[in-house]
Amino acid sequence: KDVLQRRATVLVLSKSVPAATVAALAQRFEILDPTKPEDIDALVAAHGARIRGIATTGKAKLDRTLLERLPALEIVACYSAGLDNIDAEALAERGIVLTNSSAALAEEVADLAIALMVMARRRLVAADSHVRRGAWAEGAFPLGQSVRGARIGLLGLGHIGSGIARRGEVMGMHPRYCTRRPVAGCSYPYYPDARTLAADSDVFVVACPGGPSNRGLVDRSVIAALGRESTLINIARGEIVDEASLIEALTTGQLGSAGLDVFADEPHVPASLRELHNVVLTPHLGSATIETRDAMGASVVRSLLQALD
Ligand code: DGY
Repeated sequence: KDVLQRRATVLVLSKSVPAATVAALAQRFEILDPTKPEDIDALVAAHGARIRGIATTGKAKLDRTLLERLPALEIVACYSAGLDNIDAEALAERGIVLTNSSAALAEEVADLAIALMVMARRRLVAADSHVRRGAWAEGAFPLGQSVRGARIGLLGLGHIGSGIARRGEVMGMHPRYCTRRPVAGCSYPYYPDARTLAADSDVFVVACPGGPSNRGLVDRSVIAALGRESTLINIARGEIVDEASLIEALTTGQLGSAGLDVFADEPHVPASLRELHNVVLTPHLGSATIETRDAMGASVVRSLLQALD
């Protein structure tokens, strides 16, 4: 009992933190695991003063109001790359450590970006249904577009963007990128804004964080700069791309094709987008493999152990 009382207390703020991760944490920490979101308030009221760690995802809200009730908080460990609803500035002001699992999931998301790119440019979804509905014998399937030799523009060059660039190079693509500042030591051509990057890309990949400062970054003018032969891939956040302009460009043929894993209002995907044949759609599954989800859980456990144990 004495040992248990000396254990640091960790609040599980999001139900998306897997049970296996919570079980691993429970071996070293006292765990407060609400069964319903409403229970969070009661748990914080009763134990807020001794909560030193939080295990959560970027989707769960962690704002100043909640932080004020957690005076002993030292670390927030996210089972996600995105920190969408976490007030990182408020955490930084208090010197609270914030970790995400982007290193654990980057390679998996990069794989998906490449898959979407090849599927969109080679029209593989339409080709699959062509065979399934017995249309092969009726005539040749329309030609696709090469990925090899294409200029690949990366909006964002973090763990995920770099993983996509590396894969692109191996496939004979030519990476270039746009970030707020040039990345030290990076030999890829740098573009200071999304529009100029788009104008010089055949495949444009959105791989930057979401959040207010990047909302609508890929607007009508960026999409127009891409052009009829180009492909837009989004494995980051739907809100970064102006979805209405994207649908319009895909419908009119102003943009060649798209591969989308994320959407503005998930899980809602506009019918006008679902009807298009020049777009590949997946349900936000960038990190969704058994191996990567295990690695993400392990990264949360490691972060909390490093900070609190
Ligand atoms: C992430 O980890 O941020 C994924 O996109 C899931 O939200």
